[in-house]
Amino acid sequence: MLDLEKHEYTSLQSDARGHYPYTDADRSVWSELFDQQVASLKGKMVDSYLEGIGTLGLEADQVPQVVDIDARLRELTGAGVEGVPAIIPPTRFFTLLSERKFPVATFLRRREDIDYIEEPDLFHEVFGHCPLLTNSAYCDFIEAFGKRALELGKGYSWHMFRLFWFTIEFGMIHTKDGPRGFGAGIASSPSEVENALGDKAKIRDFDLMEVLRTPYRIDIVQPVYFAIRSFEALTQSLDQDLKAMIDAAKTAGDLPPLFDPAP
Ligand SMILES: [Fe+2]
Repeated sequence: MLDLEKHEYTSLQSDARGHYPYTDADRSVWSELFDQQVASLKGKMVDSYLEGIGTLGLEADQVPQVVDIDARLRELTGAGVEGVPAIIPPTRFFTLLSERKFPVATFLRRREDIDYIEEPDLFHEVFGHCPLLTNSAYCDFIEAFGKRALELGKGYSWHMFRLFWFTIEFGMIHTKDGPRGFGAGIASSPSEVENALGDKAKIRDFDLMEVLRTPYRIDIVQPVYFAIRSFEALTQSLDQDLKAMIDAAKTAGDLPPLFDPAP
């Protein structure tokens, strides 16, 4: 993506043990973000996400290694992670998901980008996505989503990415205490969590057709979020005739955007 060039982020190479080389600057960014987000997410993210941080053994003073997270997830839910360059082709992405594996970009953002970066970095991938991979029902959705996206093929990827965006990245979930975040883009971004759980965010009940027709921008905090009832219900939503629904969404066209056009 363009921003990778702008910020000159490059993917890291792992050593023979599969370990990526992190610097003191990386450790400092990880630890600051970790402490800041852990402090601000209580009561804002769903409990299973918050518990997953501890279950995975994530800590402020250590930049985690993909191989260690992969081993832990395999034990817990049969899920896994794989280190990848920042952007991978859609087919590779969906294939990994269909295998219950989450692709993880391994570089860390620089301090000047600490609040939000468009491209996924290690903090977003690990702190944002991995805690819920300790939850089997969530992993079932990831796997089913990957399989359906592969079956549907290229002409349907755009809309499948929309579904991914409004669930895995920016999804919310109804709980007895009110809506809570479960999306990684909420968990890993200080400004997004403030926005999503603040007074002004629009939170709608998850409706697959509405999601398929809702445009988004990746460079702003989201103007609308969708709240699911449960991970099980979300997975069940994939049992519908997705091909027919996406075709219908294409015919009906996008809903009016709730944001200004990108500059
Ligand atoms: Fe992500």
